[in-house]
Amino acid sequence: RALFVSPFGLVVGQIRYSIPEEMKKGSLIGNVAQDLGLDLKRLRAGRARIVSGENIQYTELKTDKGIIVVNERIDREQLCGETTPCSFSLEVILENPIELHRVTVEILDVNDHAPFFPNKDIRFEMSESTTIAAQFPIENAVDPDVGLNALQNYILSPNNYFVLKQHANPDGSKYAELVLQKPLDREEHPSVSLKVIAVDGGTPQRSGTVNIDITVLDANDNAPVFNQSVYRASIVENAPKGTYITTVNASDADSGSYGEIIFSFSKLRGSTFDIFTIDEKTGDISVSGLIDFEKDKKYEVRLEARDRGGLIGTSKVIVEVVDVNDNPPVINIMSFSNTISENAPLGTTIAVINVKDVDSEKNGQITCTIDNKLPFKIQSLLSNYYNLVADQLFDRETTPEYNITITATDSGSPPLTCSTTLHLKISDVNDNAPLFDKNTYFAYVTENNSPGVSIFTISAQDSDWNQNAKISYFLEDTQISGNQINALVSINSETGVLHAVRSFDYEQIKLLELVVKAQDGGSPPLSSNVSVKILIQDQNDNAPQVLYPVQTGGSLVAEMVPRSAEVGYLVTKVVAVDVDSGQNAWLSYKLQKATDRALFEVGLQNGEIRTIRQVTDKDAVKQRLTVVVEDNGQPSRSATVNVNVAVADNRALFEVGLQNGEIRTIRQVTDKDAVKQRLTIVVEDNGHPSRSATVIVNVAVADSFPEVLSEFTDFTQDKEYNDNLTFYLVLALAVVSFLFITCLVVIISVKIYRWRQSRILYQSNLPVIPYYPPRYSDTLGTGTLPHVYNYEVCRTTDSRKSDSKFGRAGSQSVLIMEPSSTGTMHRIQSDKSILDEPDSPLEVSFRKKVGGAEVGT
Ligand SMILES: *[C@@H]1O[C@H](CO)[C@@H](O)[C@H](O)[C@H]1NC(C)=O
Ligand SMILES: *[C@@H]1O[C@H](CO)[C@@H](O)[C@H](O)[C@H]1NC(C)=O
Repeated sequence: RALFVSPFGLVVGQIRYSIPEEMKKGSLIGNVAQDLGLDLKRLRAGRARIVSGENIQYTELKTDKGIIVVNERIDREQLCGETTPCSFSLEVILENPIELHRVTVEILDVNDHAPFFPNKDIRFEMSESTTIAAQFPIENAVDPDVGLNALQNYILSPNNYFVLKQHANPDGSKYAELVLQKPLDREEHPSVSLKVIAVDGGTPQRSGTVNIDITVLDANDNAPVFNQSVYRASIVENAPKGTYITTVNASDADSGSYGEIIFSFSKLRGSTFDIFTIDEKTGDISVSGLIDFEKDKKYEVRLEARDRGGLIGTSKVIVEVVDVNDNPPVINIMSFSNTISENAPLGTTIAVINVKDVDSEKNGQITCTIDNKLPFKIQSLLSNYYNLVADQLFDRETTPEYNITITATDSGSPPLTCSTTLHLKISDVNDNAPLFDKNTYFAYVTENNSPGVSIFTISAQDSDWNQNAKISYFLEDTQISGNQINALVSINSETGVLHAVRSFDYEQIKLLELVVKAQDGGSPPLSSNVSVKILIQDQNDNAPQVLYPVQTGGSLVAEMVPRSAEVGYLVTKVVAVDVDSGQNAWLSYKLQKATDRALFEVGLQNGEIRTIRQVTDKDAVKQRLTVVVEDNGQPSRSATVNVNVAVADNRALFEVGLQNGEIRTIRQVTDKDAVKQRLTIVVEDNGHPSRSATVIVNVAVADSFPEVLSEFTDFTQDKEYNDNLTFYLVLALAVVSFLFITCLVVIISVKIYRWRQSRILYQSNLPVIPYYPPRYSDTLGTGTLPHVYNYEVCRTTDSRKSDSKFGRAGSQSVLIMEPSSTGTMHRIQSDKSILDEPDSPLEVSFRKKVGGAEVGT
């Protein structure tokens, strides 16, 4: 404290106080009254007051106490900032007298501020490749306090990488720098967090903190690495484009673009490029081209993984191609002859076949087959070579051609097949003879046909082909009734039509049996025979012929009818034949005319003429009947015969059948009749002049057979008569012998004469027409003449007692005539030329002499 007296008479005092900042309102700054030495009255009287140039009245004068107190909060930092020391001044003014006292108040600092960083958090980035000792300054912390209370120090939280280095600014403020002392590794610690604490020197000490976050920036210090050094995958061939194969994977420890990997194939093999693609991001490998096992069985592709920093990692992928049965077998026909002869032996090779399949293993193993119903088999020669051989004998007639389908199948799954068809023709061999559908053919032709008419058509089949099946027909040489077959029928060799060469006569030939040969045109030709029976059918071309009674010109033979004849008496029998057959020869007999119709009748079927009433005395002696014999043909033919009947009183006992020589009784034998009956029978031929022989027949009328025998013993005793007869018989034999020799000489002469004549005819070049008399010959003996009787005259010359019924020749004998239906009868038709022949068989007729009286002619 100092007191100054100013020249103006002013008393000037000076007082200095020191107070800390931030004192409470009313807090005592200083006792001015005391310090100035003023009493409180003066203060009051002088109306002491404070005058200050400040806007803010930080202080207040308490006059009653004479003290100055804090009126407003005093903030040093506000009042002075960093100026130090910090003070303000005020004047206390008194009146009466005026006194002026200056009071300086020094404000002392109080540590009321902590240091603080303007930004609580600091972030920055630092490349991991930052070199050691690189410095990174940190923003200053601020502490408005001064002196010790101001910022004193920075402290760095513990860490591996940084240390703090503190510097002072020229103004004395302190700042810090982070200094790198160890390389950063982003891959290890991608960020570093630090705390820097700023502390002041106050008491208590205050601090402020800043967080520093350092992001470590990546450097491309890592190359991509594949997770496998070799990838293996497989893919079936022909996999479509886009088929996934495998995924490769690589990693790059770098981050961001340096860790971003792009996959690719090394451009080492151009071809694989077309086949596979790799997704550059995902590493998926897929198919992009045609995978053909047959071209490449395995692919080895180098892989690259490249990051954006240009670092490369490599690997490889081996893709095995799996064979797929995608190639069908191929058949090649190495040799094939498309025609084979039907007689080819078993095992004949027809074709040689080669098969191929480009697939591998099972997919390329081929089996070759054919339809096993076919008569072929397939044999393996070498591998993949096959022989198609005949396994059966061929028959062109059943199968003329074969379609042989050869199928090649591989063993893949599913198997693939390939087939080819061979068209094989079987060529013909003449191995089939012509065939007829029957063993025997029957053909019919009506007699009196016109020559050249076709009778029948023969047809044979030959199952061979073409010329081998071309059939010609021939007639086998045979003879029919002495005729060459060619003279009767002919055959058209191409058409097989049988023609009649001439007109047939049923009465001569009823059946033609011939053999037709059918021959094919093969070499050598084959042939077969068939028998053809041509039946000639009858026509009603012959009228009935009356055999009995014989109708000779003048001579009339009459049948005897005794007046005593009973009703139904058999007068005679008209015997007729018809050379036709069947209906055409079925004869019926009718009475056409009669002297007395009421007396006779004719059996419709048998031609027997019988009386139908008792003959009376009134009936005329001569009766004449006309009998019509009619056949049953269409139209029917007929013949008539006149029968003379004589009605006689004569009691004649016997009659001789005119034709058959049968000696029959014609009435009942009565007791009145003599025991010994002698009949003389004349046998007469029909010649001109006719010649005859006589025979005497002794008949004994007896009651019993032994009696007859004794009667005949009587006959033999008649020796004189027998001698006589023997003489006549010898004479007759001599005469006959003479006649026979004479005839023989005449015949020979005539033959020689004719032969000479024919020689002359030949020389004169005139056509010779040999003449063969038509003959009626029933060669088959089928009996178209049902009413023919055959005669056998047994003339024994020296057969004693050969049979009791035959008398010895030369003695009186009994002539036994047996009717026979099975013998033969030779008869000459009334043909003049034949009648000229003296050696013709004799027609024998019997002239009837009963009881010595000749009846009729
Ligand atoms: C064989 O095939 C041909 C045509 O392919 C056909 O005309 C013929 O009828 C066939 N033959 C047989 C026996 O199947
Ligand atoms: C056909 O018949 C003739 C004689 O008639 C004979 O020589 C020939 O062998 C026969 N042929 C056949 C195939 O039967």
